[in-house]
Amino acid sequence: MSSTRHLTLLVALAVVAGCSSEQAEEGQTSQETSQPAVESNAPPAPAGEIDQELAALGEGLFQSKGCVACHTIGKGRLTGPDLQGVTDRREYGWMTAMMMNPDSMVKADPVAKQLLAEYMTPMLSLAVTAEEARAIYEHLRREQ
Ligand code: HEC
Repeated sequence: MSSTRHLTLLVALAVVAGCSSEQAEEGQTSQETSQPAVESNAPPAPAGEIDQELAALGEGLFQSKGCVACHTIGKGRLTGPDLQGVTDRREYGWMTAMMMNPDSMVKADPVAKQLLAEYMTPMLSLAVTAEEARAIYEHLRREQ
């Protein structure tokens, strides 16, 4: 199967999954996070001015890893939450853990568990490395 068709299929699946979870409560889970239940060991959070080069790398990864199949940034909820404002409502360590180990997070972390209860679809584990998670974080921070 070509990668374009594969992505189309993924998007179609995401839409179907999204529809089936429409009964779920609307609204973001706004609980603040501090220490995630799962360690990510990501490099330190980018701070201060946006690192445009890192953010551009993250933007590419957000597409190529397939995050776009389930998430928008400011265009509403799909299978997963709209990621606009996510860098304000979540800590960096929590976010990198969620990107790298969603399976463990939805089992062990109270906020991730609550998200799973709300969205009713587990986030896919996409083999995101610590460096990739940091770049995607910077992309999300730039888009807030
Ligand atoms: C199959 C759909 C799917 C894919 C693909 C996916 N996610 Fe998710 N994501 C979810 C769902 C659903 C949740 C809510 C938690 C749960 O139900 O597991 C979530 C939660 C999150 C959260 C926490 C959001 C919040 O409001 O706190 C972040 C951050 C996130 N995803 C980032 C990513 C990134 C980055 C990628 C790509 C590497 C990605 N996701 C790929 C479905 C997906």
